[in-house]
Amino acid sequence: MNLNILLMKKAIITGVTGQDGSYLSEFLLEKGYEVHGIIRRSSVDYRERIAHLEGQPHFHLHYGDMGDSMSLVKVIGQVRPDEIYNLAAQSHVQVSFDAPEFTCDVDATGVLRVLEAVRQCGLTDTCRIYQASTSELYGKVEEVPQSETTPFHPYSPYAVAKLYGYWIVREYREAYNMFCCSGILFNHESERRGETFVTRKITLAAARIAQGTQDKLYLGNLSSLRDWGYAKDYVECMWLILQNEQPDDFVIATGEQHSVREFCQLAFHYVGIDLLWEGEGADEKGIDSSSGRVLVEVSPDFYRPTDVVNLLGDPTKAKQVLGWNPSKTPFDQLVKRMVESDVRKVREETILSHSRVNLAEYLEKGIVK
Ligand code: NAP
Ligand code: GDD
Repeated sequence: MNLNILLMKKAIITGVTGQDGSYLSEFLLEKGYEVHGIIRRSSVDYRERIAHLEGQPHFHLHYGDMGDSMSLVKVIGQVRPDEIYNLAAQSHVQVSFDAPEFTCDVDATGVLRVLEAVRQCGLTDTCRIYQASTSELYGKVEEVPQSETTPFHPYSPYAVAKLYGYWIVREYREAYNMFCCSGILFNHESERRGETFVTRKITLAAARIAQGTQDKLYLGNLSSLRDWGYAKDYVECMWLILQNEQPDDFVIATGEQHSVREFCQLAFHYVGIDLLWEGEGADEKGIDSSSGRVLVEVSPDFYRPTDVVNLLGDPTKAKQVLGWNPSKTPFDQLVKRMVESDVRKVREETILSHSRVNLAEYLEKGIVK
């Protein structure tokens, strides 16, 4: 057998099809890892974010589900990984109000299932575990900025479930001396971000409005403040946390804060539209300064029963202990990158739909058979 393969580190990633899972897979493959992703069965087998990795010799996929301990024990027992990155979650805060029990099962009990599977497979002393924790734990914030010592005040079913995940990781670290850690990550975005999170919803809408395929964008709380970073920079930190000498928890953030309104203003700026804001609360509107058209309106449909409105992280510990650079991708570059990617995507969609219309017309007229 090839000695290099025996020496390769093995990592399991749950949530491999998600935004972070896809970037982390690329990162670990580049570092020479054998990467095993856990995917769940769905009726449409279209895994857009990792399609380019499928078929690579050191990238493998296994079916499993965070709600199914047996599948987790089976994959972990077969692979016997050196590292597990537990990224799988019902990750949408607003959806957690509609599906609280499912969110709790996947985001809270799911973490326990991974930890127990590691113990049952006899990997307690050898396998390092990263838990995708979140700034949502600070919720109705008790101080600004938030650091590793800020008290938690979760403010959604999602955050309450993630708080269990955070504490069970600490418990297993102390009770069984396991190398398990939480990265308390603040919001991180990218061109691969799910389309219902606010940043991606805005960049897609700006691209569509500029190209005439959407009239208006409806948003919820425009004044909400977030510390937004670039997802690709953040997955590096997940890895650094597991390479540290001691298992520990870290805040990962940029240390810079912007409102949803500011994000929107900048995204529209990059498609050549300057927005003026008029009105307040539910009556606030974003108006195209050159045409006078109302392009952004508030819809209470996107308000949450309880909303987290003031997140700002203090990444000092990650900088000092892990040597991580929180300023790699500045806010304006992040927004620009996302907008440029969506402008390309919308252009491609438009060309495709025009060619479908033409084809249908040609078929109808018998020009093409
Ligand atoms: P994401 O894009 O929503 O990806 C979530 C992943 O979890 C997907 O691969 C999804 O699979 C998988 N998943 C959901 N339920 C599952 C189940 N029952 N069994 C197996 N897999 C399941 O999320 P993300 O933005 O990459 O975030 C990664 C993790 O970091 C999440 O735990 C999230 O809560 C946490 N986090 C994210 C941020 C952020 O700003 N992005 C900040 C802090 C913490 P499908 O593709 O099949 O749906
Ligand atoms: N999704 C969404 N859609 N949010 C909106 C909208 C809208 O139309 N309008 C305003 N917002 C506000 C939300 O009320 C919230 O205050 C803020 O924009 C950010 O919302 P999301 O982008 O949905 O992200 P999130 O902060 O709730 O959750 C994300 O970040 C967490 C880390 O802080 C997710 O990735 C979580 O999984 C992650 O833990």
